[in-house]
Amino acid sequence: MAPDPAEIESAAAILRAGGLVAMPTETVYGLAADATNDRAVARIYEAKGRPSFNPLIVHVADLAMARRVAEVPPLAEKLAGLFWPGPLSLVLPRRPDSGISHLVTAGLDTVALRSPAHPTARALLVAADRPLAAPSANPSGAISPTTADHVREGLGARVDWILDGGSCDVGIESTIVKIDGDRVTLLRPGGVPREAIERVVGAPLLSSGGGVEAPGMLQSHYAPRARLRLHATAPSKGEAFLAFGPATVDHPYSLNLSETGDVNEAAAHLFAYLRALDSLCAAKGLAGIAAAPIPDSGLGEAINDRLRRAAAR
Ligand code: TXA
Ligand code: MG
Repeated sequence: MAPDPAEIESAAAILRAGGLVAMPTETVYGLAADATNDRAVARIYEAKGRPSFNPLIVHVADLAMARRVAEVPPLAEKLAGLFWPGPLSLVLPRRPDSGISHLVTAGLDTVALRSPAHPTARALLVAADRPLAAPSANPSGAISPTTADHVREGLGARVDWILDGGSCDVGIESTIVKIDGDRVTLLRPGGVPREAIERVVGAPLLSSGGGVEAPGMLQSHYAPRARLRLHATAPSKGEAFLAFGPATVDHPYSLNLSETGDVNEAAAHLFAYLRALDSLCAAKGLAGIAAAPIPDSGLGEAINDRLRRAAAR
């Protein structure tokens, strides 16, 4: 869906005035505000009901905008050169003169940056001509939105404008890595598979120690209302089924993430199917959702990460 220039211009005007705009990205829809405006950023936390210790990702049009916000060491330049625009967020040292609101970074001396690939997000960044803070456009702890309707259902009137860019192609949030010189730590698996980054870095990614490194990686997240049971080879009686791979079970309340067993296709369907099965459980009085095992390679690592959090209570 090509962005309409007049609508982009109105949305950019809302952002410049301190408002909130939901924008499609290739990963999930983001709830965008001017990252340099404290009051606008405060509105993001308020609209989402998000704890203020959980920092936001800053979206930039390109590397030039990134360099104005953060110190970009050579390895980060290389990763950005290969994966931007796209689903990779880089946690880098914040520049003292970055102009970014301290609410965005929750008081940290680092900032997470990403340049999104979706044409609507790109057009909005260029028109607003400033970095945009944007977490996923859902109430804190709920399933991330991959369509404009999901945003409407979750945030509705709390957003000043919703740009509709269709369904998100990748469907799962960006991979977040922290760069310290030549050390690269995986903070969140996401839309760029670990293997692709490791090929560039030439070493396995370090794993994060938890808490302090990635304050937002809360245990329970993406939570459906229904109970979610993982690694289920088949649904029990009274359960909905989130299937994966060639259909083995004939089940009335089943959605298949990918009949061909393609993890990229599965990622693109994940959040929409979780929502659909969650509604089905409520409507039919089902006991919960059983989810089939997903291989851990490629985007499978990110899918399994989201499913684990969705199952945590
Ligand atoms: O694909 C995405 O990344 C989407 C789209 C909208 O771009 N955004 C997104 O944002 O997923 P959000 O706010 O839902 O997730 C941001 C994550 C949180 O886990 C947060 O803790 C982490 O990024 N984060 C942000 N700044 C950080 C920093 N300076 N250090 C470590 N983690 C950081
Ligand atoms: Mg989120």
